[in-house]
Amino acid sequence: MLSLSTLVEERRSAALLDPELPGPDFDEVKSLVGLAILAPNHKYTFPWRFHVAFGEDRKELGRLFAEEARARDWAAEGTEHREAQKLLRAPVLIFVGMVTDPINPIRRQEDLLACGAAIENLLLLFQERGYDAMWRTGRMTASQAIPAALGYEAGEETVGILYVGRRPATFSPPPRRRPPVDDVISCGLVGARS
Ligand SMILES: Cc1cc2nc3c(=O)[nH]c(=O)nc-3n(C[C@H](O)[C@H](O)[C@H](O)COP(=O)(O)O)c2cc1C
Repeated sequence: MLSLSTLVEERRSAALLDPELPGPDFDEVKSLVGLAILAPNHKYTFPWRFHVAFGEDRKELGRLFAEEARARDWAAEGTEHREAQKLLRAPVLIFVGMVTDPINPIRRQEDLLACGAAIENLLLLFQERGYDAMWRTGRMTASQAIPAALGYEAGEETVGILYVGRRPATFSPPPRRRPPVDDVISCGLVGARS
């Protein structure tokens, strides 16, 4: 089994997945989500929700989104179809919803972070099982048609869409880009003294 350091180091966003290669089935996703939500969660608010879609459901979600994008004037003519097609790039889609208190900004921040922590857990768990994944946001997170079809709760909002599957052997991710750790860490009292 790979060490956690190796998983963190080797996890990459898979911009390209092979829709023909199998992803995890529902039982496997469910067991990994059960582990992912062990991420820290202040005040036990349990803000995360996971809506999984396979097969023809992905196509229907794409169709609904394209229709909505046209109705809400979100896309230049034609591009909504490309967006909808993107959902078919992965054998498994996971829409991650968040349920929070909309009028309490501190709670909202804590819940959003709890969702992010659970998502990162899930990405690493997929990686451990030999799957690839991509966390996407963008226009689709503002969709109302997709949440309606997936049965979101009142007030639940999409915080991420996970595309899960396996990348084609020919795909290699771009080189990793991060600043040197020295640029983002400090130790001790380094502020200006009065
Ligand atoms: C909150 C969040 C939203 C993201 N949304 C998108 C997205 O909409 N499209 C995309 O191509 N990548 C998206 N990503 C993935 C990042 O672009 C990716 O993590 C970054 O390029 C670094 O690559 P790596 O994950 O392989 O290290 C998102 C990542 C996060 C954390």
